[in-house]
Amino acid sequence: MNEKLKQALSEASKVFILTDENVASFWLPEVEHWLNCENAVEIVIKAGERHKNLQTVQRVWKTLMKHHADRNALLINLGGGVITDLGGFAASTYKRGIRFVNIPTTLLAMVDAAIGGKTGIDFGDAKNQIGTFAVAEDVIIDPVFLETLPQRELLSGLTEMLKYGFVADPELLQVSLENYESYISRCGDIKREIVAKDPHEKGLRKILNFGHTLGHAIESHCLTKESPLLHGEAVALGMLAALWLSVKYCGLDATVLQQFENQLPMLLSEAEFSLSKADVEPILAYLVHDKKNNCETPQFVLLEAVGKPVWEATLPSVAIKEALEYVIDKVANL
Ligand code: GLY
Repeated sequence: MNEKLKQALSEASKVFILTDENVASFWLPEVEHWLNCENAVEIVIKAGERHKNLQTVQRVWKTLMKHHADRNALLINLGGGVITDLGGFAASTYKRGIRFVNIPTTLLAMVDAAIGGKTGIDFGDAKNQIGTFAVAEDVIIDPVFLETLPQRELLSGLTEMLKYGFVADPELLQVSLENYESYISRCGDIKREIVAKDPHEKGLRKILNFGHTLGHAIESHCLTKESPLLHGEAVALGMLAALWLSVKYCGLDATVLQQFENQLPMLLSEAEFSLSKADVEPILAYLVHDKKNNCETPQFVLLEAVGKPVWEATLPSVAIKEALEYVIDKVANL
């Protein structure tokens, strides 16, 4: 255990561990033992994006209150992006903020969600509408948790790793199911570097939203359906749209789009979803809620070349619609 974590634990008046039912069944006793925290208060919630809401946060706050958590209490968030986002939000708002540590157990959370101080929950059918910037005391990355991660979740994380390839480091476009472990720390380093320069997403940090403008809209829309998409799957579709728009409006070499299209069947191989032309308008309606918007105009991150992103790109609505139709056509033929 590193010094930072040791110190956070020793200074805590009480330790709480937030996790979900899936992670609890595989890892909770082991992690408690490792942290030497067998007396920690466990808060186990249902797994999945559908539970990343105010009701679940209230449950966390109520448990903290019931066990008299004071300002020196520590919340350990053990799980994927839903747990680290929601737990970070609950901790950063309870008594105006208690400390928290993230122990990500999914690839996606290890390379993105658990790092960088964004916390939040979904609200009113739209993703991450309510949240705070609050930095975890520590983020513990241990690939051992990936041993029990379903392939579908691994693929979802792989997409976020490719995102770093597109916006920052072309070498990461080589990432695959065979080699991803060796690139985890590189992704974390890229994210930390960007966040250090722009912690509150005033400019540069927006590049980390590559593929997320339409990706979040598609994800929010699919949450209303029987089989929702995982975050990384929706982002894969959003990145396809962003690459297509980049070729059309920013001069990106079309082979970059082509290569991503070759990877798409693998990235979406475990996803169960169907999208048709009827979904276009409902998806576009979600763009209004996008936090990257300026005066209701959706802003996109596009690429002039791999590693050369432009952020705050605004596009005519007809172009956005065309890109979405392109995506829907592509996935219909996978
Ligand atoms: N996931 C994008 C960010 O943390 O800025």
